[in-house]
Amino acid sequence: MTDHHYVFDGTKEQAELDRLRLLESAFDPQTRQRLENVGVSDGWHCLEVGAGAGSIMNLMSEKVGSTGTVVAVDTDTRFLPSSASSNTVIVKGDIRTVDLGRSRFDLVHGRYILLHIPEFASVLEKILLLLKPGGWLVFEEPDFSAARCLVGSEDALLAFDRVSSAIETMYKATGIDHTAGLKIPKALSALRIKNLFVDNVAPSSRGGSPIARMMGMSAGQLRERYIQTKKCTGKDVDIYRTFAEDPGTWAIYYSTVCVSGQLEIETDGTQS
Ligand SMILES: C[S@@+](CC[C@H](N)C(=O)[O-])C[C@H]1O[C@@H](n2cnc3c(N)ncnc32)[C@H](O)[C@@H]1O
Repeated sequence: MTDHHYVFDGTKEQAELDRLRLLESAFDPQTRQRLENVGVSDGWHCLEVGAGAGSIMNLMSEKVGSTGTVVAVDTDTRFLPSSASSNTVIVKGDIRTVDLGRSRFDLVHGRYILLHIPEFASVLEKILLLLKPGGWLVFEEPDFSAARCLVGSEDALLAFDRVSSAIETMYKATGIDHTAGLKIPKALSALRIKNLFVDNVAPSSRGGSPIARMMGMSAGQLRERYIQTKKCTGKDVDIYRTFAEDPGTWAIYYSTVCVSGQLEIETDGTQS
């Protein structure tokens, strides 16, 4: 197994919390819909992988009520409440190695977590062992190759492309596939999953919107790492950050591939 690769490790605490909150405000509505689509409700036992600042952990907790349970796992639990709801357990751990039992969850969800794990295919295999027969998994992972500047000055367009190229190179240098979202369907189709559903959403975001601001903040936090790739300069990063705040601009910053599916049940009712 390779080392822990989370690129935002070591970034400043408040800045990272602000970035996670922006991410939640941009993506929670569609995640809520996706979890409702698979039927999360009273009495379900759920696992939230890479819980971040905890909004989806909290959503699951409300949905499953007092007869259900939620386990939220993250290598960094700083941003999760110290006293979570009574149906929720927070586990500080790495999803690749943490012991969470077997065949116990009705739903496992993760958003922007498999991207950070080079060996995500083996993590998906592990997650299958955690699901009850018939249990659902829902993963939402990015494809940074979808990045495209739509409206902006010529300078901004060039800087946007160079920063996007730096993001790709930075991830590749740590063994991470910046198109990870695109690879999840194939990884899952080799496993015992039925009702596999895939969609790929590439929102056009206006400067100043949560997605644009979150990407601008990421560029601020990872500035030196972007520059180290030699694909962009400090000036490109500055232009990109200004672009991301300017309501006169539009861009696709990345797309999100959402994959959901259900662990097969053998005809005798046991897990194959
Ligand atoms: C980009 S954030 C996404 C947070 C949250 N899922 C969301 O979408 O709001 C990725 C989260 O995954 C966690 N993480 C990264 N690698 C991990 C691993 N191997 N095991 C568990 N958590 C991990 C990070 O600490 C971080 O909280």
